[in-house]
Amino acid sequence: MYNFEYQNPVKIIFGKGEIKKVGANIPVGSKILLTYGGGSIFKNGVYDQVKAAIQGFKVIEFGGIEPNPHYETLMKAVEIVKNENITFLLSVGGGSVLDGTKFIAAAACFDQGDPWLILSKHAPVKNALPIGAVLTLPATGSEMNGNSVVTRVETKEKLAFGSEKVMPVFSILDPEVIFSLPEKQVANGVVDAFVHVIEQYLTFPVNSPIQDRFAESILKTLIVEGPKVLANRTDYESAANFMWSATMALNGLIGVGVPQDWATHMIGHELTAYHGIDHARTLAIVLPGIMHIKREQKKDKIVQLGERVWGITEGSVDERIDQTIQKTVEFFESVGIPTRLPDYNVSTETIDTICERFEKRGFKVGEKADIGPVEIRLILENRL
Ligand code: NZQ
Ligand code: ZN
Repeated sequence: MYNFEYQNPVKIIFGKGEIKKVGANIPVGSKILLTYGGGSIFKNGVYDQVKAAIQGFKVIEFGGIEPNPHYETLMKAVEIVKNENITFLLSVGGGSVLDGTKFIAAAACFDQGDPWLILSKHAPVKNALPIGAVLTLPATGSEMNGNSVVTRVETKEKLAFGSEKVMPVFSILDPEVIFSLPEKQVANGVVDAFVHVIEQYLTFPVNSPIQDRFAESILKTLIVEGPKVLANRTDYESAANFMWSATMALNGLIGVGVPQDWATHMIGHELTAYHGIDHARTLAIVLPGIMHIKREQKKDKIVQLGERVWGITEGSVDERIDQTIQKTVEFFESVGIPTRLPDYNVSTETIDTICERFEKRGFKVGEKADIGPVEIRLILENRL
């Protein structure tokens, strides 16, 4: 196992009816900017619960944060934060609203030029406004990490930054928010969380049985609970288990002391940037390609995944790897997520464009930093 430091300061408030605690967790006298998305919070009662819980605070609302939040929209919120002397950001929504709010929090305090530099050049985030989150969609893990992914529409770039300064002070996770989620968003959440685990697990062994078994338990929970939530959205117990799995998948715990991949995400972000494909769906497309192309380098962990998660115990190493890829693809498709590029009308032209972009960037991805344009072409061609 590698050396590591781990600190996660996010207070999690989990369970039915807990949204009422939001006000008690915000410093008295705060001036709040309440951020939200396209309006789902008005239909499912979350907005009313939040409003009731923050009576007595001065609140300005900022809605319209898009899925894959747009830099252009977020900069409008930054203006409001500055003009209105906002002191606390309250994100009420899914990963996009929260990621967007993290960027607002950092951009409003950024004094080294254009805040886009936080994303494009990873300019250090020295300060950020405090954030509280009421999560309405289990998927990204954003509620318990310091990551944020933002899209600049003008240049079709989808870029990420990470800073402990934008980790929420608290996140409220009431599993009942899932009851109003469309099937598609549940499936996206299950697959996104699944692939977050895979990015921190499917690399090479470093003798880290705790991290491995934590990771496998999250995968197995998602495999069992995900379909139950899809079949019955008001099954509270399954909703709760799904929600906690998604948080645990990306709060840093399973990734300490082990190599991490993230190539599936890096390539997937390009598919969203160019084609607007939902984040999780891009992962379902790319991951099987990576497993196939990197089968030699990842073989020990793919075989372990096959055996411990999918119960594959027979055959040669190559056969087991093929079966493990097949099982993974079948799982994604069983929750309604297609896994091939033509399913999303993506042509070979897009493959060329993505490879050119990675060529220009000049860096390689993956746990061994050995996935560049040549490998990315093979990975995406595998998905045609
Ligand atoms: O905008 P509203 O009206 O709220 O509707 C949203 C949106 O249309 C809807 N929704 C959310 N909660 C709902 C609901 N509808 C009904 N009932 C509810 N309770 O769902 C739609 C999608 O929401 P979005 O926030 O975009 O989804 P998700 O949470 O999957 O977030 C995706 C974004 O997170 C980034 C992705 O790249 C993408 O931009 N990621 C962030 C990560 C992180 N911060 O650590 C890691 C991930 O890998 C990911 O990259
Ligand atoms: Zn993801």
